[in-house]
Amino acid sequence: MINSGENDNILDGCAQCSAKVTNQVTRRSFAGALLGICSSSMGAFLGLSMVRYVIYPVYAKDSGIQWSHVGDSNEFARAEGPVSKTITFATRDGWREVVSTQSVYVSRGSDGQLQVLSAICPHMGCSVGWQASQGKFVCPCHGGQFGPDGRHLAGPPPRGLDVLPTQVKDGKLLVQFQYFRSNVPTQQTLS
Ligand code: FES
Repeated sequence: MINSGENDNILDGCAQCSAKVTNQVTRRSFAGALLGICSSSMGAFLGLSMVRYVIYPVYAKDSGIQWSHVGDSNEFARAEGPVSKTITFATRDGWREVVSTQSVYVSRGSDGQLQVLSAICPHMGCSVGWQASQGKFVCPCHGGQFGPDGRHLAGPPPRGLDVLPTQVKDGKLLVQFQYFRSNVPTQQTLS
């Protein structure tokens, strides 16, 4: 037979057990919830990073116009004829950024203003060269000829040399290099 003192001890013991069990369950639930929150946050972060990575080429395409440095604008003030320059610019191919170089000529347009001409022949894409002794650009491939301002003089090219967009900023002449469709009479931008 259990007397009332022993009975009280047993009841006390059970109350402690139940408090301990409740405590463990509460701690376990809290740890579980914390783990759940961490996993969800990590999943969302990785998911977002993955989406940004996949769509990067789409929004990177519209990251703005790239201007390449051609030279100090006063460098060309006294030039007697077109001046050859090599410019560097970056293009994006999917996730890759490709740095390219191209030849351009700084010359004066028919209005006397500085302009930058692409050295790519608008006939089939060969590189034209300035022939100072002849006073004109000559294409080595099919004999296309252009005046110092880029206008078409002779040969198969259907238009003059392509004039590139330029700006002068802080005394520097900048150009936006572009490619144009070949063998068509008007200047049509490709990229
Ligand atoms: S590529 Fe220049 S004339 Fe044909």
